[in-house]
Amino acid sequence: MKPYSAKLAVLILTGLIGASVLQGQVATSLAIDLNRPKSPVSPTLYGLMTEEINYSYDGGVYGELVRNRTFRSDWSGILNWFLIEKGISSAKVSVDSKDGPSAAIHDSAKLEVVKADTGSPAGLLNEGYWGIAVRPNSRYTGSLYAKTDSEGGLPLTVALVGDQSGKTLAQTTVSLAGTGWNEYKFEMQSGTVAASAENHLEITIQKPATVWLQMVSLFPPTYHNRANGNRVDLMEKLAAMHPSFLRFPGGNYLEGNRIDTRFDWKKTIGPMVDRPTHPGTWSYHSSDGMGLLEFLQWCEDLKMEPLLAVYAGYSLGGQVVKPGPDLDPYVQEALEEIEYVTGGPETHWGAVRAKDGHPEPFPLRYVEVGNEDSFDRAKTYDGRFAEFYSAIKSKYPKLQIIATMPVNGVFPDVVDDHYYKREQGMFELTKHYDNADRKGPKIFIGEWATREGTPTPNMGGALGDAAFMTSMERNSDLIVMSAFAPLFVNVSPGGMQWASDLIGYDALNSYGSPGYYAQVMFASCLGDHTVDSTLSDAGEKFFYSATVSSKLNKACVKLVNASSSALSVSLSLNGLGNAVHQARLSTLKGNTVWATNSIEHPDRIVPVSSMLTVKGEHLSHTIPGYSIQVLELDVK
Ligand code: AHR
Repeated sequence: MKPYSAKLAVLILTGLIGASVLQGQVATSLAIDLNRPKSPVSPTLYGLMTEEINYSYDGGVYGELVRNRTFRSDWSGILNWFLIEKGISSAKVSVDSKDGPSAAIHDSAKLEVVKADTGSPAGLLNEGYWGIAVRPNSRYTGSLYAKTDSEGGLPLTVALVGDQSGKTLAQTTVSLAGTGWNEYKFEMQSGTVAASAENHLEITIQKPATVWLQMVSLFPPTYHNRANGNRVDLMEKLAAMHPSFLRFPGGNYLEGNRIDTRFDWKKTIGPMVDRPTHPGTWSYHSSDGMGLLEFLQWCEDLKMEPLLAVYAGYSLGGQVVKPGPDLDPYVQEALEEIEYVTGGPETHWGAVRAKDGHPEPFPLRYVEVGNEDSFDRAKTYDGRFAEFYSAIKSKYPKLQIIATMPVNGVFPDVVDDHYYKREQGMFELTKHYDNADRKGPKIFIGEWATREGTPTPNMGGALGDAAFMTSMERNSDLIVMSAFAPLFVNVSPGGMQWASDLIGYDALNSYGSPGYYAQVMFASCLGDHTVDSTLSDAGEKFFYSATVSSKLNKACVKLVNASSSALSVSLSLNGLGNAVHQARLSTLKGNTVWATNSIEHPDRIVPVSSMLTVKGEHLSHTIPGYSIQVLELDVK
């Protein structure tokens, strides 16, 4: 599958391209000295930041199709599950709070069927995450825990059913045996059905019996066919961004609203039935299917390095663990987490990871201590950071430790800055790092976004983002990493808690925002150093970056015209020589700042590729209004 549908227009141009240039303006010139290196560009400049927000994992990249597989309930009943009584059948469902398959999951759904037969089955229906995507000729892999009072065993029918048609799209039978808890695995295959998300799951029986159910799970084919794996279309979209790292698990999701609802990593590993699940920070419950090992495998799948954020004793609701003895257990928890990630099988937590299915240690360079600790009103971060820093450095001296705000007393390796701004604010921010202190810690821009557009950024958002990215590249001797946030949003009603999010999806489809494509374009051509350049008469809404990759012998010129009018630029590429060079030009353009993509119209604003023939070192080039361009040249 193509990561995005770029429209390919092969243009052979030697001079002016584009049309409506502002009349009467002073000619803009941009002179780039390809042979005059200026500052290094970090190979890890572009990465990803994720957390459980906007149904990013459950109902998002985590492939699970069953919503509330652990049968949580409130006053209205069991959430997302509904009783089925077909024909003359009669049944009731309740939560059995005293009977469950494990210490972590100690309750279950109790289905009591008093009347049923082959023509009149009874059971339960799961609505999925705003439906369940069923695609043609696809294999669905499931599992469930169950027990029954039916001594002779009990056949359970599991089926994917069309909401409107009532047609069975895939079906299998699971034979329950024994009156104790057992795990049952099953598979079912769809036929030549039309792809749709208007489907649900049915689990039914055809005779009177009582069945207890727990941890009902169903997966479609996943990325790299991983069990308990990730959604293919979203992973492909991420792969196209060439991300170098993944910051996880948050964000506020790391902190929790309270200490006891933090991301407690030990409760997110091992078999699903041993994960108790927990309330997230963004108004919904987390299945914890996306646990510590799943994050690391996600990194492995996309060849990203993990950037592990550890809980640091501050929760969003204001609870703080005082530095000193109170904090020791949390420091220990972080050390053990690092051991789970990096330890050999001879270590305690490395052995646990091996038992969980991954004997090889994962690479780890960066550990972030907490998240946005500037919100800690008790101002305890200096003390808390110092304890984490000293414990981590003494056990793992090579690890780079990231602080979430400037700290006194200890010199962190890196400080994490966050920016959420409108387009104008982003333009202003482009100057922020130009004269920043180069003797201080390195900078990680761990969350940033131009917040224009809902649920996903519009063209104005993309222009703000692209302008900011040019400044990050220019200052990448200081800014070693960056990640847009939030990354994901489920655009179904009620799915979003925070706008503007880079990639949108529903149960079936997904799309990239203009800002997503800006990042795909920028990351696809990242030099290893910036080069000298001079700009004149460009106005306030033009931004650029010029880098060269010595390794790949190519130059990357990024041009951002955030004004409504086309901009004519006299471009000098000094050092290119007199030979004829072929250049690849990628253009992302909107007609207004409010132009955007959506789940219904995913391809309105996508990069358009063209070829340019550059003769000699000079090029008259026109950058369309509201556009972002990346010019990639071979410089051999
Ligand atoms: O990205 C959304 C939230 O913004 C993050 O959880 C938090 O770190 C920041 O305040």
